[in-house]
Formats: sequence, structure tokens, C-alpha cells
Amino acid sequence: MVFLLLIFLIVIHRGYSQKENVRYSPPHICALKNSSVIINCNFTYPPERSIMKTFWTKTKNRNTDNEFPDLSEDPEYSQRLQYLGDKQKNCTMRLSHVTQKDEHKYYFRFITDKANVKWLGEPGVTLTVLDLQVESPERVTEGDSVRLTCKSSCALTDRATFIWYRNSQPLTERRDRNNILLLQSVRREDAGRYSCALQEHTYISPEVHLNVVYPPRNVSVFMNGSGEIVEGDSVTLICSSDSNPPAEISWIKGGTTVGSGRIYNISKIRSDHREEYKCKSRNEHGEKYSEAVTLNIMCELVSSVTITLNYFFYMIVSDICLF
Ligand SMILES: *[C@@H]1O[C@H](CO)[C@@H](O)[C@H](O)[C@H]1NC(C)=O
Ligand SMILES: *[C@@H]1O[C@H](CO)[C@@H](O)[C@H](O)[C@H]1NC(C)=O
Ligand SMILES: *[C@@H]1O[C@H](CO)[C@@H](O)[C@H](O)[C@H]1NC(C)=O
Repeated sequence: MVFLLLIFLIVIHRGYSQKENVRYSPPHICALKNSSVIINCNFTYPPERSIMKTFWTKTKNRNTDNEFPDLSEDPEYSQRLQYLGDKQKNCTMRLSHVTQKDEHKYYFRFITDKANVKWLGEPGVTLTVLDLQVESPERVTEGDSVRLTCKSSCALTDRATFIWYRNSQPLTERRDRNNILLLQSVRREDAGRYSCALQEHTYISPEVHLNVVYPPRNVSVFMNGSGEIVEGDSVTLICSSDSNPPAEISWIKGGTTVGSGRIYNISKIRSDHREEYKCKSRNEHGEKYSEAVTLNIMCELVSSVTITLNYFFYMIVSDICLF
């Protein structure tokens, strides 16, 4: 009885091992662009046969000699494909510098010494090639915190370590433990082009621009010329301010808005311009006024008038301007 069972088991075992078979583990592989991928593969064949040829193919269409095309003879692959297996049971291969064009099903093929004992390893192994993508809000207000995510639909191992770049410079500080970069209390200097990568992989994601917005600051008024203004002169006031997005500028004289735009021209200045001017810088995040500037207008007294005037009168007119 035991003997029969043993025979039975041997027959079962022989029956199993005689079957041509190819197994891929895992059957789906997600590879990062430009990385090297190892496709693990095992095969079995009838023990009384010997293997004449092993190769990988990516199509089930036969070529002219009624055989599947050997990938290692394909110029697109020959430099990148490396057969790591043997002619016994291991059919592992490595494909390096994976590109989007490599997204395919791949099949292992073996040919034995017996003409009709050939095998194509169905259903093949599926290679998916994926990009890394930075997900980020387009803009963040200064002082807020922002979270950037390095997205990959590849099921990456937990040990995957992400590297972040700003303007192509690796960020050594503030790297999060997983695929998230958290910027707390964002500063203007944090604006820039962000990309991410995986440690030990050369592929870097496309860059994503992070814009840091903030209300106006450093609002000040500059005046062209020496500052000595004589009646009838033209004066240009320039409002400078720092903001993102750019601010709308308006000009205030006394309490009244008198103009807009970064540059304010006063032509033919008269004494009633002797007032305080301010500019106001405003964007959707806030507004800020400059310090007031006072135009210091010198009176130009016509000398012939002065000469004929007595001293008393001169004292009076020197403080107001004549027209
Ligand atoms: C097959 O060969 C590869 C490369 O030599 C090796 O890493 C892998 O462990 C082998 N697989 C088996 C099942 O022996
Ligand atoms: C791909 O990898 C090579 C080195 O292995 C590197 O020189 C190249 O810059 C990488 N290409 C991209 C697009 O990341
Ligand atoms: C603008 O203001 C900041 C402080 O808010 C200061 O550090 C910086 O030097 C100022 N820049 C200019 C150009 O005045």
C-alpha cells in the first residue's frame, strides 16, 4: 500500500516536473523611468530534454523563420538587456535605462533539442514604467505651510527614500520620512521649481513651480532729481514696493487719491503742490502706505521785483511764491 502510494507520488511529481512551465515573480513590475529592473523568472522543462536556446521576446508575432524575435537582437534592447539566468531553471533578466517605450508584456522562450518541445511563457510579465510627479498647490501665502507630494503609482517599497530638489539643488533640510515634503511657515525664499527623485535612482521628476504670495512691503517713494524744486519744474515720483503678485499703486496727496501707477508725474509744479504725497501699494493679500514725502518748493523771486521792493515787503513774499 505504502509502496503504491510512493509510486503514485513519484508519477505525480514526474508528471508535474515534465510539464513545460515558466513563472514570473512578480507577474507585474512597475519600474521607474531610467532605472534598471530585474525580472525574476523560473522555468521547467521535460528532464529528458536539453535546452538549446533561451531568450526573451516581447511579441507573440513570429518573424520570417517562424520564431519569435529575440529581444537581445533588437537594437532597442541589445545594449540594455542582460540575461542573468541559466539553461536549467533560472530565466531572470535585467533591463536597464527603462523608458516609457518599454511598457510591454515580455515572454520567456525556450527551445529544446526536440523540435516540437518549445515553450513560450504565457501570460508573460507586464512591465509598467512610471514617472514621479510632484503634486503641489500652485501658490502658497507666506507664513502658511504647504505640503508637496512626490507621486508615483508604482508600488514602491517602504524603504524607498525620496530626495527633494529646489531649483535643481538637493534639499538637505526638512526632508520628510516618506514622499511628502512639508514646508512650515513658508518664506519667500521657498518659492522655486521643485522636483523629486528616489535615492539610488537617476530619474528626477519634472519640475513644478511653487509661487509664494505676500502682501506689499518696503513701500517707499523716490523722487527724481536733486530734490531742490523750483516752481514750474516737473517732478517725477516713483513708488517702489515689494509684493507678490505685483501691487496696484495709487497716489495720495493730503487725503485725496490723485493718481495711479508706479510713476506719478507732476508737471509745472506750483506752490499748492507743497503737500505731502504718499503712495499706497495694494494686492489681494493686503495693502501698505509709504512714508509721506513733502515736496520742498523753493520760491523763485524775480530779482527786478525784489530790488524795487522794500525790505519789509521782501520778508512777506519770501515765504509765499509769486506768480
Ligand atoms: C536566478 O538568477 C538570479 C541572477 O543570478 C538570482 O539573483 C536569482 O536568485 C536566481 N533565482 C533562483 C530562483 O535561483
Ligand atoms: C538616466 O541615468 C543616467 C545614468 O544612469 C543619467 O546619466 C541620466 O541623466 C538619467 N536620465 C534621466 C532623464 O534622469
Ligand atoms: C524690505 O523689508 C525687509 C523687512 O520686511 C528687509 O529685511 C529688507 O531689507 C527690505 N528690503 C529693501 C530692499 O529695503
